[in-house]
Amino acid sequence: MFSSVKENFIYKILLQHKRKIVFLLCGSSIVAFFNVLYPYLLKILIDTLSGEERPMILNYFQDNTFLFLIFFVFLIAFVDILDQIAPTLLNLIRYKFDFSIAGTSETLLFDKLKKLDTGFLENPKNQNLIRSFFNLPQLINDVLGFATGNLQKIITLGMLFPIIAFLDIRIILILLLFVFIQTILLFYRIPIANKNRTQTEYIQTKISSIRWALFGRFDQILALNGTSKFLKKYYDLREKLFRTSYPIEKQTERWRLSDWLLDTIPAWFTMTFIGFKILQGDLTIGDFTLILAYTRQIQNIFSTVPSTLNLWSQFFLDYTRINFFFHLKPKYRMIEPIYRGALKGDVSFHQVSFAYPIFDETEAYMLKEVITQNKKQLAKKERWKYEDDEIKEWEEIFSTNQKKPRLVLKNINMVWKSGEITALVGRNGAGKTTTTKLSLKNYTPTKGEVSVGNINLDYVDPSDVRNAVSIVTQDPIFFDSLTLEENLLLGVDKKPNTSTIMKTLKRLGVGELVAKHHKGLDVIVGEDFRCSAGQTQLFTIARVLFQDRPIIIFDEGTNQLDPEHEATVMDILQEQKKKGKVVFIISHKITTAAKADHIYVMDNCKILEEGNHQELLAKKGLYKKFWHLQVEKNIFE
Ligand SMILES: Nc1ncnc2c1ncn2[C@@H]1O[C@H](COP(=O)(O)OP(=O)(O)OP(=O)(O)O)[C@@H](O)[C@H]1O
Ligand SMILES: [Mg+2]
Repeated sequence: MFSSVKENFIYKILLQHKRKIVFLLCGSSIVAFFNVLYPYLLKILIDTLSGEERPMILNYFQDNTFLFLIFFVFLIAFVDILDQIAPTLLNLIRYKFDFSIAGTSETLLFDKLKKLDTGFLENPKNQNLIRSFFNLPQLINDVLGFATGNLQKIITLGMLFPIIAFLDIRIILILLLFVFIQTILLFYRIPIANKNRTQTEYIQTKISSIRWALFGRFDQILALNGTSKFLKKYYDLREKLFRTSYPIEKQTERWRLSDWLLDTIPAWFTMTFIGFKILQGDLTIGDFTLILAYTRQIQNIFSTVPSTLNLWSQFFLDYTRINFFFHLKPKYRMIEPIYRGALKGDVSFHQVSFAYPIFDETEAYMLKEVITQNKKQLAKKERWKYEDDEIKEWEEIFSTNQKKPRLVLKNINMVWKSGEITALVGRNGAGKTTTTKLSLKNYTPTKGEVSVGNINLDYVDPSDVRNAVSIVTQDPIFFDSLTLEENLLLGVDKKPNTSTIMKTLKRLGVGELVAKHHKGLDVIVGEDFRCSAGQTQLFTIARVLFQDRPIIIFDEGTNQLDPEHEATVMDILQEQKKKGKVVFIISHKITTAAKADHIYVMDNCKILEEGNHQELLAKKGLYKKFWHLQVEKNIFE
C-alpha cells in the first residue's frame, strides 16, 4: 500500500531542503555536545582547585592555579556563550525553515489539488478531510522538530549513560525505575487530563456564546424582557464551571507534587551513593557535581518519552490523512494524443451514460486507514461531538463507496448548437447539473462521449476545456478578501479597461452600486462591500462577459433576479448567441426556458422530449405539464 520512499511526499519535501536539514541536525548534535561538556569542565575546575586532580594543562601555567582559574573561567564562559548562541541560531534557522517548508508543502498541495478532479472537492462531506490536508506544513515541521530534538537527546544519552554507569551502575537502575513509574503514571493521566480539558472547554464555549449574546444583543434581551432568565443561565454556567474546574485544579496540583517527588527521590539516592563513595575516597567532589548534573539531564530526557510517543501517534494520524490525499487519482479520462488547440463549436453528447465515480481500491483502503487511525486517536480522550460526527461522515463516504455506483445519466443525446440558445428543463435531481459538469470535464462519461466542435473531450486537458466554458450557477460565489475587480476578472485573460467594466456593470444594473462607493472597483468584498444574492449573480454574469469564452452555461443563472434584470440578461444572452457562441441554460422557470431556440426535457436520467416551445407544447408531455402548472394555471385558475 505504501509507495516507495522516493514517492513519499515527506521525502519529496525534505529533499528540497536537504542542506538546511543537515545544518539543523549538526546544530542539534553540537548543542548536545555542549550540554555534556559544560558539567565536565566544571568538574575539572573543582577537582583542580581542591587539589584532587592535577590536569596536564596545569603544566602550561607553571602550576599557577590562579592563572589556571582565570583561563578556565574564560573557557567555561566561552562554552556558556556558545551554548546560548547555538540554540538561538538554530531557532532562527528553524523559523526561516518553517516558512520555506510551508511554501514547498503548499505548492505540492495545490499542484495536487489542481490535478484532482472536482468530484472529490465538490462533495461537501469531504470538506473536513480536505481541511486536514492543509496540516501538511505543520506535519513536516513537527517531524523535523521531532527528529532534531530526539537526535539531541539520543546523543546526550549516548555520552552520559556510559559515564554514569562507569561511576555507579545503581544510579542508572534507580533512574530507569523512576522513569518507568513516571511513564506509567503519564499514560494513566493523559486520558483523564483530556477528559477534564474537554469538560471545561465545553462549559467555557457555552459561557462565551452567552456572553457574546449579552454584550452584543442586550437590546434584544431587554426588549423580550428576558434579562432575568438570561442572566440566571449565565450565572448557573459560571457556577458549573467552578464546580467542574476546581476539583481538576486540585488534581493538577496533586500531580505536580507527585511529579516533583518522583523527580527528586532519584536525586536523593544519587547523592547518598556518591556521598558514600566520596567518603571512601573513590570519587571526588567534582564527580559529585558532574553526576548530579548528568542525572538531572537524563531525567529530563526520559520525562519527555511519553509525550514523544503521543506526538508520534498524532503524526501518524496526520500522515495517514495526507497520504490518502496524495494517493487520490483524478477520475477523468485522458487519452493520447492530447489535443492542445482552442475549443470552439457545438457541444454534443453522444450516447452518454454516467455514474459519479467512486474511490478505487487503494483509495478506499487508505480512507479506511484514516478512519481507523482517527478512531484510535479518539479512543484516548473525551471528545467533542463533531469529532465523532466527522468519523461517521467518513464511514458513510466509505460505505457509499462500497456500493455499485448508480447511473445518473442514461444514453443522453444532446447538441448545444453554437449561435443558438439551448435550454434544459426537468424535475429536481433529473441530472441537469451533471450534464454541465461533463461539459466542463469535471468528470468523463462512463459510456459515450462529450465533444466540443467534434473534439472528444477525452483527448483534452480539463484546464483547456474550462478555458472554453463560462458558467453562472444558482448560488454564485464572490470571494472575500479579493477586491471587486479581482473577483470580476477571475479567469479573464485580457483585462478590460475600467470604463468597459463600468459600462457592462451599468447595463446589468449594478454600476451605480459600484460608482457610489468611494473605492469603486477596488472595494474589498466582505470587508467594506456586501451585496445581495441577486447583485452577486449580476456580477458573476458580468464576469462571464469579460471572460468572453465560446460556451456560456447558466445553471439556474438568473434565479435570483427580478423580472427587469432577468429581461436584460436574456437580451445579453441573445446578443452572445448572435456572436456564434453556445448558450446553454438550465431553468426551473419555464417562461425563461421557453425563449430558447431548442429545449430538452429531462427526467429520471434520460432525455424525454426535445423541440422548440411550440413543438413541445404540442407533445403534451412533461414540458406541457410544467407550462400548465407555472403559467396557465396561475393565470386562469
Ligand atoms: N457529487 C455527486 N456525487 C454523487 N452523486 C451526485 C453528486 N452530485 C449529484 N449527484 C446525484 O446525481 C443526481 C443528479 O443530480 P443533478 O445535480 O444533476 O440534478 P439536477 O437535475 O441538476 O437537480 P436540480 O434541479 O435540483 O438542480 C442526483 O440524484 C444527485 O443526488
Ligand atoms: Mg441542478
